[in-house]
Amino acid sequence: MEHSTLENTLIGLPIARLRFFETIGSTNDEALAWAAAGAADGCLVFANQQDKGRGRFQRRWITQPGASLAFSLILQPTAPERETLGLFSALGALGICQALEDLYGLHPEIKWPNDVLLNRRKTAGILAETAWLGNHLQGVVIGIGLNLSAEGVPPDDEVLYPATSVAQAAGQTVDAYALLRAVLQGVFTWRALLGQDAFFQAWQKRLAFRGEMVRIEETGGAPVSGTLVGIDSSGALRLHTSTGELVNVMVGDVHLRPIDG
Ligand code: BTN
Repeated sequence: MEHSTLENTLIGLPIARLRFFETIGSTNDEALAWAAAGAADGCLVFANQQDKGRGRFQRRWITQPGASLAFSLILQPTAPERETLGLFSALGALGICQALEDLYGLHPEIKWPNDVLLNRRKTAGILAETAWLGNHLQGVVIGIGLNLSAEGVPPDDEVLYPATSVAQAAGQTVDAYALLRAVLQGVFTWRALLGQDAFFQAWQKRLAFRGEMVRIEETGGAPVSGTLVGIDSSGALRLHTSTGELVNVMVGDVHLRPIDG
């Protein structure tokens, strides 16, 4: 992407300031440092390439220039939003889904809590993080990595979950600027409904594997398997286990895996 074209693309959105990098370690690291230094609501960090891109569970996240998007949006939560910090990664996922539906008529799904799938393959990952000084919240960072085209998709044997790209699913080339703008627009649209019934309904509607058997692996805990029922009014995942129990799994250090067959 070109810096000046990106700036023009963002006109009209509530983006306070843009930091544009050809190459950076991680846009999330930059955004967390910027939040700690007083970044306003709506500051954006964008990079064409990251050499220390991070995923959840400290996994590496590869950003291929021209074939993937990598950016981090800084939000300064209002007092009510501070009560629902766990929902900001789902907010990123809903923003991405909205953009893919509006621009390409696709049917993205959210692999709880926050991966976006197209045709059951991962297309985007979200890493939401917070910057704190003691108990003062300096900002929330929503980091988004999105595969635009096949060149940005890691091979199946290099990832834990098979991946795809927007271009492959849409069967057409992707305008990276238009998609980035639509994702940010989607995030701001759903932010206005954060934590409200409409937010959970939108999330639930796009939830992948509903009615299917899944396994939840919690770091340091025993895995839980069951039929995925949906999410509750806090965003927790509801599973119906084989012993007939209804179990709620909170958003946290968890992996969700479908169980075939
Ligand atoms: C995941 O699927 O585990 C989340 C991946 C998040 C990757 C994005 S790319 C932009 C931002 N900067 C990072 O270092 N990570 C996020």
